[in-house]
Amino acid sequence: MNKITQIFETLEYGPAPESADPALAWLKAHGNKFGHFIDGEWTKPGKTFASDNPATGKKLADITDGTPADVDKAVKAARAAFPAWSALSGYERGKHLYAIARLVQKHSRLFAVLESLDNGKPIRESRDIDIPLVARHFYHHAGWAQHLEREFPGHVPYGVCGQIIPWNFPLLMLAWKIAPALAAGNTVILKPAEFTSLTALLFAEIVEKAGLPKGVVNILTGMGETGAAIVNHANVDKIAFTGSTEVGKIIRSATAGSGKGLSLELGGKSPYLVFEDADIDSAIEGLVDAIWFNQGQVCCAGSRLLVQESIEDRFIDKLKRRMATLRVGDPLDKAIDIGALVAQVQVERVRDLMKKGIEEGGVVYEPDIDLPKGGCFLRPALVTNVSPAHTLVAEEIFGPVLVAMSFRTPEEAVALANNTKYGLAATIWSENINLALDIAPKLKAGVVWINGTNSFDAAVGFGGYKESGFGREGGKEGMAAYLKPSWEKSLKMASSQAGAAAPKPTAKAGASTNPLDASSENIDRTAKMYIGGKQARPDSGYSRPVLGPDGTLVGEVGDGNRKDIRNAVEAARAALSWGTTAAHSRAQILYFLAENLDTRADEFARRLRAQTGESLASAHKEVAASVERLFAFAGWADKYDGAVHNPPSRTIAVAMVEPIGVIGIVAPPSRPLLGAIALIAPALAMGNPVVLVPSERSPLSLTDLYQVIETSDVPAGVFNIVTGDAVALAKTLAEHDGVDALWFAGSAEASAMVEKASIGNLKQTWTTRGLSYDLSDREKFEGDYFLRRATQIKNVWVPYGA
Ligand code: NAI
Ligand code: MG
Repeated sequence: MNKITQIFETLEYGPAPESADPALAWLKAHGNKFGHFIDGEWTKPGKTFASDNPATGKKLADITDGTPADVDKAVKAARAAFPAWSALSGYERGKHLYAIARLVQKHSRLFAVLESLDNGKPIRESRDIDIPLVARHFYHHAGWAQHLEREFPGHVPYGVCGQIIPWNFPLLMLAWKIAPALAAGNTVILKPAEFTSLTALLFAEIVEKAGLPKGVVNILTGMGETGAAIVNHANVDKIAFTGSTEVGKIIRSATAGSGKGLSLELGGKSPYLVFEDADIDSAIEGLVDAIWFNQGQVCCAGSRLLVQESIEDRFIDKLKRRMATLRVGDPLDKAIDIGALVAQVQVERVRDLMKKGIEEGGVVYEPDIDLPKGGCFLRPALVTNVSPAHTLVAEEIFGPVLVAMSFRTPEEAVALANNTKYGLAATIWSENINLALDIAPKLKAGVVWINGTNSFDAAVGFGGYKESGFGREGGKEGMAAYLKPSWEKSLKMASSQAGAAAPKPTAKAGASTNPLDASSENIDRTAKMYIGGKQARPDSGYSRPVLGPDGTLVGEVGDGNRKDIRNAVEAARAALSWGTTAAHSRAQILYFLAENLDTRADEFARRLRAQTGESLASAHKEVAASVERLFAFAGWADKYDGAVHNPPSRTIAVAMVEPIGVIGIVAPPSRPLLGAIALIAPALAMGNPVVLVPSERSPLSLTDLYQVIETSDVPAGVFNIVTGDAVALAKTLAEHDGVDALWFAGSAEASAMVEKASIGNLKQTWTTRGLSYDLSDREKFEGDYFLRRATQIKNVWVPYGA
């Protein structure tokens, strides 16, 4: 038999290797040893570590472990390059990005081979997915650079951005970080992951070739400590991180109080839902892409199969048969499906988790397929007989391991899908468009793919809900993450803030604040808190005096504690359906609230004057401005909405604007009514129930408001008020996992505390850090600024065409 008939007989794949030679030659041209790329120059290699090929275990090159001194040098270079780079016209910056895109395309084969050598991913993926998307990101953002002024008026770049990326998509993550940062006019220091730095170093050469000004892009290699040195450097203005949730939390904590911008793209445990009416063969192929793409080392991997019980047996059976045909092998072989994991430690991590999973009763299926000798290879695995609390269902495995569970009804599917601390992505398979589009908005995830999976595009935002992080990459929302309003850069310290050592009015002699004296005047005139649509007495049973500017007793409010906050959060969570109430209805309720406040303007103005000592005219102005602000956001409720993107495939991506969830709001001490309304109005307009802590010193304007709330049809639990020590209550809100975002107006010190305490569930925070945010400023605060913070964008990919 000759060779051709033999192949015909067996239908076996022959080897189809891509040559490693050009990449090896490039490494050799650099002596297989690299320094950093700082200020447009290559530094001498310092203390180095090896970057290996995980498919063979052989060393590819030695790369330098960045020291704090290296970081400092890179930050100085980026800082020096910033003024000129940010002053270039958008068109000029765009041309630089365009030049990079062209060069990436020109050298795409070299990039793809080097990526597969260093990371272990199949060449099919690096060649057809990673590198083309890299070029696409630079092209897309070249356009953004040119249109920024029109699309983001009044916005400026942060300055110097520190960017830290993981090893699963080394060059793609670099592109996701560097392209928007440069388009916006920032300069960058990027640290690739220690296992996969080589394509970033090749990219540095492209930057040189493209003629970028020195210092605009700095590439610094190193371990986690190098990353930490970037995070902690005082002269870095923004940190963008992709990687594990664990390190994301460390970074959140390390940057607390620093005022650094922060975006985090973290882990996931994304559900893959297959309904009984799905096209099963397509769903199986989709699943292969969802979990065995890049050996499962994908943050948005569809790693949790949820299949409808009626088709479960048939589906699992087909899946097993498909798994048996997957080919694990040399990443440079064009005909393999699964390559090598990134490193031996990752193989061990996956094995350890599997061992634990088996101990907990998981049943593992692995097809009996050959693995190459040596190297970091694992068989694809399917784990059944698991429940939601099982380790393999709860933890991100980051390897070729799928866990499967079943559901009976769509409601159960949604409940199981959302039963995770993560919220990065989700996939839905069903031929029933009504069902698919009913489920998509119910899933707590930043990306939802319908009848497809793992689709990405530069024009479509990507990023997570919950502990999968915050901020988006790609799309307009991704651009926004590298810009800030210019006024925000020049804020000064405010004179008085909650939590600051500002003097509080002391009781006037004779006007004792002895609680007994106060309450003796009346049976009980303590203003109640407002929780779940009802007036509530404080759990502590204590009240706090509210004093006028001259120290006279104006009234008393409840002294709220942890228990009161917990009750309020529980009430707010029970009212989350506010987010799916029609925007028109939310608008009507806010208009009504405004109208009812206006009717009692005089009473509210007098109450303000009693607490703050301002003139009646000024107090009237504050009430009028509060009414106007409520009107403004009532008007926004049905207008601040999404977009439809057209990625280069037969798919539309619907960018839906969704509420964040429960928002905790600690209002500023000054302008007690308007300060609170300015924050509450956008939160409510966008569908978030709130727990409000009013001005500690002047809370009565808000406790009076409960009567207005009650007459305005605000559903119970949507608007909760807890009075008391603002900083102590803020801490409780920050630590509470039922709070999804926290807005805090107060001192720098207390803001830092709030940000640090928020890491439990990685809630999104907005803090004033003691700066003079003037919330009465309509131009700044009557629109986009808080609307953006009150919402998160979910992109739903919907294919079309028969
Ligand atoms: P990692 O989160 O430690 O590494 C990501 C990047 O952060 C690397 O560049 C690393 O050098 C840097 N880094 C580490 N510690 C740092 C610190 N304290 N400050 C600043 N930068 C720091 O991820 P690792 O250890 O490589 O992988 C561990 C697990 O994390 C994986 O098994 C997987 O479960 C998860 N992971 C998730 C990723 C995702 O995209 N969701 C990406 C990478 C890992
Ligand atoms: Mg490597």
